Order: sequence, then structure tokens, then C-alpha cells
Amino acid sequence: MIRFDYNYFMEEAIGPEHGITVGELDGLRTLASEALNRMAREKAEGRLGFLEIPYDDTVVRSIEKFRKSAADRFSSLAVIGIGGSALGAQALRNALSHLYLNELDERKRKKRLKVYFFDNVDPFEILAATDVMDVRETLFLVISKSGGTTETNANFAILLSMLKKKVGKHYREQVVAITDPEKGVLRKIADDEGFATFPVPQNVGGRFSVLSAVGLVPAAFMGIDIGGLLSGARTATERYYGMDLFRNAPLLCAAFHYLFDRARGKRINVLMPYTRKLFLFADWYRQLWAESLGKNRDIEGRPVVSGLTPMPALGTIDQHSQLQLYLEGPNDKVITFLKLNEFGCDVEIPDFYPGIPEVDYISRKSLRGLNRFEESATEMVLREAHRPSAAIILPRLDAEIIGELILFLEMQTAYAGYLYGINPYDQPAVEQGKQFTFGLLDRPGFERFREEFERGSSKRDDYIL
Ligand code: PA5
Repeated sequence: MIRFDYNYFMEEAIGPEHGITVGELDGLRTLASEALNRMAREKAEGRLGFLEIPYDDTVVRSIEKFRKSAADRFSSLAVIGIGGSALGAQALRNALSHLYLNELDERKRKKRLKVYFFDNVDPFEILAATDVMDVRETLFLVISKSGGTTETNANFAILLSMLKKKVGKHYREQVVAITDPEKGVLRKIADDEGFATFPVPQNVGGRFSVLSAVGLVPAAFMGIDIGGLLSGARTATERYYGMDLFRNAPLLCAAFHYLFDRARGKRINVLMPYTRKLFLFADWYRQLWAESLGKNRDIEGRPVVSGLTPMPALGTIDQHSQLQLYLEGPNDKVITFLKLNEFGCDVEIPDFYPGIPEVDYISRKSLRGLNRFEESATEMVLREAHRPSAAIILPRLDAEIIGELILFLEMQTAYAGYLYGINPYDQPAVEQGKQFTFGLLDRPGFERFREEFERGSSKRDDYIL
């Protein structure tokens, strides 16, 4: 099971100016129990689908059935989506499949498909991907809860047209849509076309949807144990849901971040694994945290400043990049290591120029051992510099543990939103940006956004050198 080690968040370790006291945590008990009550209330109202989906094994069965019927026909998967409809699957690919899945030969790939993600509006990227992807042998997963996301539809339009050119009228057999079960234009297109579909439950927000078909369908084609993901998520729900502050690690972790922000002025939330296998989790978490907590109104509509800025980091690389700033720059960061206890693999460093002591000291040492020393050393120097750090500790890397981690971080984010008194499930500012894009693309009904853009976007030439 996952552990949460908050020793170096505390004042005993890093001193009263920067560390949190037990008294401060105690002082948060009322707010924390209000957060628990709010979660219980919203769950009872059927609004928190992310807590329910781990219990839906029928999804696993239908995805597995589909995968078995389709996997032999394809060698690659194209995942078309953005934000919450793409980041989770990318994190799962790195964590639980092969880091170089696409480069493996067929024998080593076994039945897993190569996977290409189309989650940006970037001609360089789409042209590069389609140079190497065999369209005839690709299963296209278009993922959009709303169905109306411009970036996703643009990429889908381009790829669909390529597919039609290559395979003619059989194109429909190569497209799967993952979208709202009833609403939205993608649902309509999919139904009209007869594409295979999987639903995104209406009460599951995009960035909380990785354990729905949104993440599970791509994961299944990458050979990931999707039943294990849900089982791990259930472990987390059962372990934490409704538990009081000191027995509820996600709530406690949220409470620390809230206190570091409000009482210590620390406004940057760093998540730092020490393996690339987990780095895209930090990226997924960045979106989860940022879009959920960056709000300027509380649920009563009162102005509020909420949310630390999330920042992913990767050890050991960032020891040679960001660590200098973490140690001697402004003491405004709250660092959480995402530690992996058992790598399940290691490489011994061979004899390396035995006559040269400046390099020989690494001979016959283990790479994992070196990685662990570097992680511990970073933790120690941060403590010495009075910089707060904690660790979420994963015992090993498998689907169960990753499922547990996903729920841990989702619950932490939701609790943090409740502590700030905001709605962590909407994204009004992002919607506004989308409306300007619609206006600029001349989408009917959005003319006023083009006009507003033209009025507001003037720039002085003399400020541009
Ligand atoms: O978390 C969210 O709601 C967003 O990040 C969405 O996932 C993102 O905007 C994509 O939306 P959609 O799935 O509707 O295309």
C-alpha cells in the first residue's frame, strides 16, 4: 500500500519559520471535517463519479472483449484527445507499459499496440507521427467528453481524412469514440457513423476520468492490467474515504498544502519522482491540480485566491537543473517526492577505469542504489536548507499501486478544493479561452467573441523591438 511520509513538512525537521506544527494541523480539524462532509454530500448527490468508477467492473469486461476482437487487426493505436482526455493514458503508458513500446519489435511487443498521442495543435507533431504510423494498421481512438473540443476535432478531421483515403469505405471499423453516453456532437457523429463507442460517465470530469474508458481503453491496448488499476483505486477509496484528518493521507496532504500556502506563503507545489516511469504522472497531476484549484471565486461567489502552482520535476535530471533554485532561491516551494521502493530491476555499473580513483568509485555499484542515494541526498539537503518536503511512497510499480496512486491524488485535489471553499470540478476560465477560439474560427453563434478579441487585442508597435 501507498504510504505518506510527512516528516520533513514538520517544524521539528525544518524549523518553525517554514515547517508546520501539530497545533496548526489540529487547528484545521473543523475545516477538514467540513471537507469530508462536503465530499459525502456531493457523493450522495451522485456528483462524484470518480469515486464510483473503480467499482464498475462491467467496463473492464466490455473493454477486454473489444480488445480481444480488435487487437489482432492492428499494430498501432492513435489516441486523439487533449487535457484530461489524453494525459492520463500517457502517464499509464510510461508507468505500466514499456518506455519504448513503439520501438520494440513485434515479438517483444507481444500483442501490445504501438501508441501515438495527438493532443496538441501542432503541424510538426502530426506530420512527424503520420510519417511513422501505418494508417491502415491503426485503430483510432477519438476521446472527448464534450465532443466539442476544437483541438481534438481538428486532429480527428485530419486523421480521419487520411484514413478514408487509405482504406475507403471500411474506415468505420478503425474508429472508436469515447464520449458522453448521450450528449454532444461526437456522440451524434459516432452514432450516425456506427463507430464503436465507450461512454464517459456524465458525473466524471475530464481530468478525473483516467479510470473510465478514457484511460482504460488505451491502457488495455498497451497491455496494462486494467482490472488491477480499478482494484487499486478501490483500495484507496476504502482506505481514505470518510476518514478523519490524521488517518486520511490525501486529506492530510491537501491540508499541508493549504497551510503552506495560507500560513507560510509557499505557492509552488512540486511533484518529483526519481524515475521517468512516473514522470508523466507528475504531468497528469499538474493538470489535475491546476485546472481544479486555480479559481478566483469560492462556491458562494466571493473572491478568493486559491491553488499553489504545480510543477513537475524529475530526479536525478532536475538535480542538475532546478535543485539549485529549490535550495537557494525563494523558499516558496512545497516538494513531494514520488518515491518508488522496489524498482524490480537494476543494472550493475561495470568496472570503470580501475586505475583512476576519480571515476573508479562508481565501479560495481548498482544504478538503482545510486538513484536511491541521490534521492535521499536531495531530501536531506532540502531539509538542511529548511525547505519542506514529503514523500508519497509506492512499494512497487504495478497496476494496483498506480490505481491507488490515481485515487490518492484525485482525492487530495478534491479535498484541497474543499479546504479553499471552491469548486474543484469546473474550469470556467478555460471555457472562456475556447469561446474566443470559436469566434476566431468563425463558428456561428460566437461572433461577439471575435469582435471582442479584435477590440481587446491591439498592441503598440513601439513596444515590440
Ligand atoms: O479536465 C477537463 O475537463 C479538461 O481538461 C478536458 O479534459 C479537456 O478540455 C478536454 O475536454 P473534452 O474531453 O471535452 O474534449
